[in-house]
Amino acid sequence: PRPILLTRHGESRDNVRGRIGGDSVLSDTGEVYAKKLANFVEKRLKNERAASIWTSTLQRTILTANPIVGFPKIQWRALDEINAGVCDGMTYEEIKKNMPDESRKKDKLRYRYPRGESYLDVIQRLEPVIIELERQRAPVVVISHQAVLRALYAYFADRPLKEIPHIEVPLHTIIEIQMGVSGVQEKRYKLM
Ligand code: G3H
Repeated sequence: PRPILLTRHGESRDNVRGRIGGDSVLSDTGEVYAKKLANFVEKRLKNERAASIWTSTLQRTILTANPIVGFPKIQWRALDEINAGVCDGMTYEEIKKNMPDESRKKDKLRYRYPRGESYLDVIQRLEPVIIELERQRAPVVVISHQAVLRALYAYFADRPLKEIPHIEVPLHTIIEIQMGVSGVQEKRYKLM
């Protein structure tokens, strides 16, 4: 069995400011995670010469992958964070002020940000990524974003659709998934 390693990007400057979306670079803490992740991956995937690193097209994932050497890197638009549309770049506080209706709370799975996406939209656009992940024989490290990783994790861990928007995917933690005959096994490595 070959592992799939899922991780969010290291903490970004927008994470520190509490802003969603955007395309900011890493904070100093995020940079430290990128180095720790590189160390981990180089040890964990030593001798796995066909392994690859998949990121989104956003700076914070590309910069998180940066210190990892020795493996090919592939950027997928489908791994970009949920598009928050008119709320892109806002804090949750600002969103509350500007969009006082509670429809996202009521149905987070189906709520589509104006001019943006819903979780269901994200799940749908991930299909080609999942097909490609299933096809891989070598390990893959997926460096992406919270909403996207909720959906990917739910697929592999066989969690129901309605749970997806609420699954915890903490920063600076690697979720390792192994698919074997007896089902899916999961390990978590909290690097900081
Ligand atoms: O930028 C969005 C977050 O990563 C997803 O968080 O869907 O829980 O608001 P949320």
